[in-house]
Amino acid sequence: MNEQTVYFNGRFCPLDQVRISPLDRGFLFADGVYEVVRAYGGKWFRLSDHAARLERSLAALELAGFDVAGLEGAGNELLKLNGLDRADALLYWQITRGAADFRAHAYPDASVAATVFGMVNRLPHRRPEEPAVVAALEDRRWSRCDIKSVALLGNVLSFNEARSQGAVEALFQRGGTVTEGASVNVAAVIDGTVRTHPESEYILSGISRKVALEICREDDIPCREEAFSLAELRRASEAFLTGTTHEIWPVRAVIGEALEWPAPGPVTRRLMARFSELIR
Ligand code: PDD
Repeated sequence: MNEQTVYFNGRFCPLDQVRISPLDRGFLFADGVYEVVRAYGGKWFRLSDHAARLERSLAALELAGFDVAGLEGAGNELLKLNGLDRADALLYWQITRGAADFRAHAYPDASVAATVFGMVNRLPHRRPEEPAVVAALEDRRWSRCDIKSVALLGNVLSFNEARSQGAVEALFQRGGTVTEGASVNVAAVIDGTVRTHPESEYILSGISRKVALEICREDDIPCREEAFSLAELRRASEAFLTGTTHEIWPVRAVIGEALEWPAPGPVTRRLMARFSELIR
């Protein structure tokens, strides 16, 4: 039995009491979005950025009638109810288009309420993490990767393909251009400049990516939101991944491209140190 208290459609209850209809459009069509927010010592990290991204995702799905502003209070309550109000934790929100009376592609009428689910889990802040080995894979996902959709099959298949190659993450390329990973953004230091794919429909606009770029700008580390190719990655002096669960994660090798770096390199190390300052 799971003793965890979760949020479900406006109330807090034990996880075991949540009942979701098989007609829920999240189940039938992956018609929903999600967010993952980190808390350090009970304090949310960049919550307003996550809320803004969630609003963009909801707008992209034309999923109206859901108030993102209420998420902070509900998140705080979840921390408290689970005894995590001073802990390092991970908050997950999922909103789907709800359950109509029958399966149909067409959006149901406005009387069908969204399904809203939230949970928190303890996630200790651990440093340092083993540098990552990633596998270069073709990005076969759809071309709305900017929406934080629960339709993650492309990410899941690729993540597990990377695992089967002995890597811990995927490094996606689309037509030779590096986009991101299955659950992280990707950056490389090329000719002394930190480069990462610009915001577009081919990547998720990561909050940790944004923080890394802000640190670069504050510390006069040259950086550019400009895509790079696999050929350019071969010239890189270092590479790193960014994401809510891994923060700044150095890359030590790329399987499939026979690339290796001593990791973390000096720029990555600097970003990791500055990131750690920000969360404490
Ligand atoms: N993943 N790219 C993809 C495809 C992602 O799924 C994520 C986050 C990121 C990094 O975004 P951020 O820095 O805002 O976490 C990039 C979350 C954590 C997940 O799916 O669990």
